[in-house]
Amino acid sequence: MRVLTGVKPTHIPHLGNYLGAIKPAIQLAQSAKESFLFIADYHSLTTIQKGSELRDFTYQVAATWIACGVDPNKTIIYRQSDVPELFELAWILANQTPKGLMNRAHAYKAKVQENEETKKDDLDFGVSMGLFAYPVLMSADILLFNADVVPVGEDQVQHIEIARDIAQKFNRTYDEVFKLPRAHIQAKTLVPGLDGRKMSKSYGNHIPLFQDSKAMRKLVMKIVTDSLPPEAPKDPETSNIFQLYKQFATKEQISELEALYGKGIGWGVAKEHLFNVLDAYFARSRDKFNTLMSDTKVLEDALLRGAERARVIAQPLMKQVRTLVRGL
Ligand code: TRP
Repeated sequence: MRVLTGVKPTHIPHLGNYLGAIKPAIQLAQSAKESFLFIADYHSLTTIQKGSELRDFTYQVAATWIACGVDPNKTIIYRQSDVPELFELAWILANQTPKGLMNRAHAYKAKVQENEETKKDDLDFGVSMGLFAYPVLMSADILLFNADVVPVGEDQVQHIEIARDIAQKFNRTYDEVFKLPRAHIQAKTLVPGLDGRKMSKSYGNHIPLFQDSKAMRKLVMKIVTDSLPPEAPKDPETSNIFQLYKQFATKEQISELEALYGKGIGWGVAKEHLFNVLDAYFARSRDKFNTLMSDTKVLEDALLRGAERARVIAQPLMKQVRTLVRGL
């Protein structure tokens, strides 16, 4: 079984990304016989158009994976843009893709809806061809490696279905070349941000994964709470602090804090518990992350080696596709 997934480098990884995407992808990569993890840097071009930013986010994602336990000698880790075959395949696949299929893709539809709501004359305002054809490139990412399983969040399932449609269309037009991939839907983990809304970079309520203890503590202390006095019993279920805590604490720690909530605990003390657990949980990977980021040459070499391995696997399939398409 071949597992493949990609992550768009668009910001510093935070706790929400870790629980929602990074941790499940790593677990799957570690359990699969063959795993591919890549940084979808050219997908980020829809929003990141400053080279130095794209470079930094790319390194941060790669360093996060390795720091959190992905072994680059086992899992094939690469940067999308280092595999030129992907973009050749994307063009060929674009010619098997009905435009109407792209009209129904959710990111494009959301943009059109936003333009409707803000009463723009041009409903395609702000839509680049890169955004519109995003699912075609994503199909190439998956199909070039004939991946069986693609771990993704709920929001990406439509893209996997599009990849299946495009694969079938190609297979009918030319020959049975592509396997039909299957989405492995990652369970939604509710990760509240500092203000209680879903943790997201765009809300500015996120806690970055790797920052020094002091900065981490400062952010944890900013988590919004209600104004119950310290001695009042508190409900763990409705407490953002507790919801974060239980993702990182051991079973015993969870029951201990739960008991304290029942008896009454000051929010400052609860935050102290959360900080301690987070600090311990990320201590080792933070050191590793910092070491990797302090000399990005090592990371760069690892990514280039990964791309070489990926290309060796991709090239025979690409050769077959080229032969079929050109009749040569
Ligand atoms: N679109 C995915 C996201 O935003 C990232 C991605 C790009 C991807 N290519 C992929 C995920 C291929 C899985 C497989 O999360």
